[in-house]
Amino acid sequence: MKNFLIPLLLLSGACLAAETPAEQSPVMALAKDSGCLTCHALTEKIVGPAYSNVAEKYKGQADAAASLAQSIQYGSKGKWGRIPMPPHPSLSVEDINKLARWVMTVQK
Ligand code: HEC
Repeated sequence: MKNFLIPLLLLSGACLAAETPAEQSPVMALAKDSGCLTCHALTEKIVGPAYSNVAEKYKGQADAAASLAQSIQYGSKGKWGRIPMPPHPSLSVEDINKLARWVMTVQK
C-alpha cells in the first residue's frame, strides 16, 4: 500500500506545480506596475487581447517569447485588430523578457 501511495503523492505534487496560476506569479505585480493591466486582462479582452489568447495563438512556437518581447518593447499593430499597442521604451529588457515569458504561461 505504501509503495503505491508514494508515486501518487509525487504525481499530484507535480500537477499542482504545473498549474500555479499566472495570477500568483510575482510577474503579475510587474505587469500591474508597468501599466499593462490597464489594457490587458488575463482571460478577457479589454483594449488589448487576453493574455490567455496570446499564449494560445503562439503556443508551440519556439521563438514566441522573444517575438512577444519585441512587440512589448517596440509596440505592435495589426496582429489582433485595429488598435495598436504603444511601445514601452522605459521598461528594461530584463523586465520585458519576464513579462513576455509570463504571458506565455497564462491559461484560460
Ligand atoms: C494602451 C493599451 C495597452 C497597453 C498599456 C499595453 N498593451 Fe499590450 N496590446 C495592446 C493592443 C491594442 C494589442 C494588440 C496589438 C496588435 O493588434 O498588434 C496588444 C498586444 C499585446 C501582446 C501581443 C503581441 C503580439 O505580438 O501578438 C502582448 C504580449 C502584450 N500586448 C503585452 C503587453 C504588456 C506586457 C504590456 C505592459 C508592459 C502591455 N501589453 C501594455 C494594448 C496595450
